[in-house]
Amino acid sequence: MRLDKLLANMGYGSRKDVKNIIKQGQVQVDGETVKNGKIHVEPEKQDVRIKGERVSYRKHIYLMMNKPPGVVSATEDSKEKCVTDLLPERYQTFNPFPVGRLDKDTEGLLILTNDGQLAHRLLSPKKDVGKTYFAIIDGLVTERDVQIFKEGVTLEDGYICKPAELTILRQEKQSEVHIVITEGKFHQIKRMFKATDKTVLYLKRIKMGNLGLDQHLKPGEVRELTDEELKMLKG
Ligand code: URA
Repeated sequence: MRLDKLLANMGYGSRKDVKNIIKQGQVQVDGETVKNGKIHVEPEKQDVRIKGERVSYRKHIYLMMNKPPGVVSATEDSKEKCVTDLLPERYQTFNPFPVGRLDKDTEGLLILTNDGQLAHRLLSPKKDVGKTYFAIIDGLVTERDVQIFKEGVTLEDGYICKPAELTILRQEKQSEVHIVITEGKFHQIKRMFKATDKTVLYLKRIKMGNLGLDQHLKPGEVRELTDEELKMLKG
């Protein structure tokens, strides 16, 4: 990896900032001062220091975003704004991608990482990682619906969903619910309610496995996971 990229990735400033730091002779690789940011280094093997302090390299980044409505869960789109467009540059350099998709109008907890193995584990239906959503439903959600969701809703295309846990929080003309699903079919929750003749008006993911959305993150904000949160996610 290029030295200037490594230092920028590790949070020592923009590419331009680190170029200057390198030019000023403040960076050593294996004990030698280097003045060219373009040189390639192997950060896992070589001793890279900035102002004498060892640069501890990490390959992966793990981010929690409170996804706002109106952006798509993708890294690139020809028309729409993507969740990765909302990331500060210091995170973008790691090339993170969203773990699974939330619809454009869905809000809430979105994990972004460049760790493909973790993403796979979280999304695999075999691993049964529960994804918890808060939803507002146009219609009266009943105990009968709770039972149907528990047994496995049949979608309009005949697919039988895995059992889902539906909890009624407010039961009126518009109901509020929590729902936990372990798969991630296209528009799954909207289609599950559609199958019971109801419409989802608002959808927000609040948990993945045991990891809850940080209540202090405003829509569009993002932060790195703490070590403890990462452990929770890795299970
Ligand atoms: N189910 C949906 O219908 N939409 C989402 O964004 C997530 C789950």
